[in-house]
Amino acid sequence: MRWTPGKRDWVFLMAVAAVVLFVSLLPTPRERNPMIPANEPHRTLTAETHCSQCHALQGNQPLSSRHPKRQDCFKCHRRADVL
Ligand code: HEC
Ligand code: HEC
Repeated sequence: MRWTPGKRDWVFLMAVAAVVLFVSLLPTPRERNPMIPANEPHRTLTAETHCSQCHALQGNQPLSSRHPKRQDCFKCHRRADVL
């Protein structure tokens, strides 16, 4: 007997494809990126606009040239002291 995909098989395949697409569109998992250290300069910071004081290209702790050129730091970097 030869197996031919029925209606229920297609429904299942579409569901799998939808799940794969959904997962691939999730934002960068922050847990895998370097955390914001829980030290003195970082603990007092609350606004992303202040990060560039040190992490701009001209700052004392510049980002690498491969680093994403985005300003929403907290989307990808979790604070080590805040769970
Ligand atoms: C007063 C200067 C200063 C400011 C402002 C600052 N940083 Fe930093 N940052 C540093 C220094 C110096 C280091 C490296 C030494 C260390 O671990 O503390 C560092 C390290 C980091 C690291 C870890 C890098 C690694 O390799 O693990 C992350 C992530 C980071 N900063 C994110 C931020 C974010 C996000 C902000 C804004 C909320 C910010 N920093 C603001 C000075 C600063
Ligand atoms: C799209 C996600 C994303 C955003 C937004 C983001 N980062 Fe990062 N950041 C990363 C990743 C991933 C790494 C690790 C890069 C590597 O290992 O080469 C990293 C690394 C770092 C490091 C370690 C040094 C380096 O250059 O590798 C610092 C410091 C840092 N980020 C600060 C910041 C600051 C400040 C902002 C906001 C202006 C920011 N990040 C926004 C994803 C992001």
